[in-house]
Amino acid sequence: MKITVFGSGYVGLVTGACLADVGNHVVCVDIDAGKVERLSKGEIPIYEPGLDDVVKRNHEAGRLQFTTDIKSGVDHGLFQFIAVGTPPDEDGSADLQHVVAVARSVGEHMDEYRIIIDKSTVPVGTADRVRDEVAASIKNRGVDLEFDVVSNPEFLKEGAALEDFMRPDRIIVGTDNPRVTELLRLLYEPFNRSRDRLIAMDIRSAELTKYAANAMLATKISFMNELANVAERVGADIEQVRIGIGSDPRIGYHFIYPGCGYGGSCFPKDVKAGCCSTRSMRISTAISRARWWPSGGSRSNPIPTICVRLPAAC
Ligand SMILES: NC(=O)c1ccc[n+]([C@@H]2O[C@H](COP(=O)([O-])OP(=O)(O)OC[C@H]3O[C@@H](n4cnc5c(N)ncnc54)[C@H](O)[C@@H]3O)[C@@H](O)[C@H]2O)c1
Repeated sequence: MKITVFGSGYVGLVTGACLADVGNHVVCVDIDAGKVERLSKGEIPIYEPGLDDVVKRNHEAGRLQFTTDIKSGVDHGLFQFIAVGTPPDEDGSADLQHVVAVARSVGEHMDEYRIIIDKSTVPVGTADRVRDEVAASIKNRGVDLEFDVVSNPEFLKEGAALEDFMRPDRIIVGTDNPRVTELLRLLYEPFNRSRDRLIAMDIRSAELTKYAANAMLATKISFMNELANVAERVGADIEQVRIGIGSDPRIGYHFIYPGCGYGGSCFPKDVKAGCCSTRSMRISTAISRARWWPSGGSRSNPIPTICVRLPAAC
């Protein structure tokens, strides 16, 4: 299949390389010319075990190309992945300017049906915004073209990204078009063999799933950090407490280690993202005053609650 991936950062590069490795023809588009030049020479700008081999192998086989040429990227793939950054805006919410820029570019250049798949971590309602941008760009050109927008959030962990992509826990596909679900099922088929990991749902549910997962993980880390403080004060051993509670199947051992959080550099900003204005739904952490100190974080930089931005329509 022909695939275009916008953004050759962590998510985009891993996505592109893994999809090429199973036989697809992938074009990765990035606006950073220096990065594209390095990638084209086989230099990998990030450290991810095994990624250099996969990139090299597929680049040499002609299945994985890197370019800054947006038009050629839009021309290439039936599937147009958006994997650009969504850094925190001034108020901590996700800055969607790069996502919107890609949507606009696709609308400006597409000449036939395209499936636009959002892999970046974005607030609920972003797919509608992407759809509006693409539609507006198409309309400006005075043409009439069909397209679909999909939410396909990424859950890979830095340091285990290849493994996470090749053998995912789940593949979330949010779309309002059953035909698109089947196309994505085909696309992900090589990563979905031993049991069906693809979970199809509506677009907003898929968008919320990513924030919900991060919120749950942050809750666990917050809880365990708070409990570690309590253990220190009362002279208990948090490791023993952890083992004691983890044996309860409702709690489980996973992700209840106290200390620095893990899950990738974007975990803190994704949890913060959407902690927002009046149109917000706050998901209080299990202990609402819980503090979570991500790597490099501190007591003076706590994240007291986790919240998710509601779309304007709500
Ligand atoms: N890194 C992770 O572990 C991880 C895991 C899951 C989800 N995510 C999410 O995936 C998204 C991407 O994250 P990342 O870590 O890969 O980001 P990144 O900053 O490593 O890479 C983003 C890339 O997009 C490029 N870019 C920006 N605008 C562009 C445009 N208009 N066209 C083409 N390329 C453009 C940038 O030059 C950069 O190379 C974010 O929303 C992030 O929250 C990240």
